[in-house]
Amino acid sequence: MNASYTGIATALQRWYNLHARALPWRALPDEPRPDPYRVWLSEVMLQQTTVAAVIPYFEKFTSRWPTVEALAAAEDSEVMAAWAGLGYYARARNLLACAREVAARGGRFPDNEGELLKLPGLGAYTAAAVAAIAFGQRAVVVDANVERVVSRLFAIADPLPKGRKAIREAADRITPDEHAGHFAQAMMDLGAGVCSARAPQCLLCPLTDLCEARKTGEPERFPVKPPKKAKPVRKGRAFWIEREGAVLLVRRPGKGMLGGMRALPDDGWSARGDGSGDTPLAGDWQSVGSVQHVFTHFALEMSVLVWRGEECCDPTGEHGEWWLVSGIDEAGLPTLFGKAARLVMAQREERGG
Ligand code: ADE
Repeated sequence: MNASYTGIATALQRWYNLHARALPWRALPDEPRPDPYRVWLSEVMLQQTTVAAVIPYFEKFTSRWPTVEALAAAEDSEVMAAWAGLGYYARARNLLACAREVAARGGRFPDNEGELLKLPGLGAYTAAAVAAIAFGQRAVVVDANVERVVSRLFAIADPLPKGRKAIREAADRITPDEHAGHFAQAMMDLGAGVCSARAPQCLLCPLTDLCEARKTGEPERFPVKPPKKAKPVRKGRAFWIEREGAVLLVRRPGKGMLGGMRALPDDGWSARGDGSGDTPLAGDWQSVGSVQHVFTHFALEMSVLVWRGEECCDPTGEHGEWWLVSGIDEAGLPTLFGKAARLVMAQREERGG
């Protein structure tokens, strides 16, 4: 490694020794390596979700399932419900598949990137992060924060996603042979705080003298992003059917959007519906408004309709389950349907109970 590259790792390490965030899954530089289970779990949760949002989920999961064997033995539905609100539900299904695979191998995660990559649901990022952080292996760990720091350090002008190749190569050049896990987390912390997307605080940055983007006077221009495409908007309807203080919930099919999660019945918005599909019951429906939710590839505007009929269907819950309305917060609804439930509740309060 040439001198300026080792200079980056050294300056960053010194900064991290003083400024590392204490996070529940993390071992600080003077502590023994963390439990691979906790590292893996946190890294899966942290993909595309903020540290602040993940902490309560991480605490909940690790107190309920303190080991990979405990998680492997959990019911699918319990894990899906505990994951509700974190989004990207396919990840929760993969989480369980991976826990079961590791439990079947005696509860030990493999200690290197290549073997980690073979586990269900472990992509390049997670395999590198677990190898480096939990096992101290040299691995190149590039998440969105690292991407930003590296693109600035080297003023990489190729727009994303094409620029990712150069960013990765540069990250590889500056990753030290020792303490790659601390190095990766130091880069993440620097990106999350000092080297922020819109207002980098270059005066506080340990790498400021080594940073090419800083010399351009416009570090916030990096990483260069392609022009934003507007997301298509889909429309749909969700149905609130209530009897004797309980609301009808369904379990969504295993594959597809929000797969395997509890939900309100809906009209299949995921199939590019225009919001005019059939209602599940003929008769009297009242609209209580709509909720919006942005998914990765589209935005959804979902109107919420409440059944106002007398005689209701499905008394035994053959098509789902009757869930007490007073305990709806514990149903583990994904965020979209949680918003719909809150809309119904808010409207009820307005009407006086
Ligand atoms: N984002 C993803 N992994 C992280 C970690 N280990 N520490 C802080 N932020 C992260």
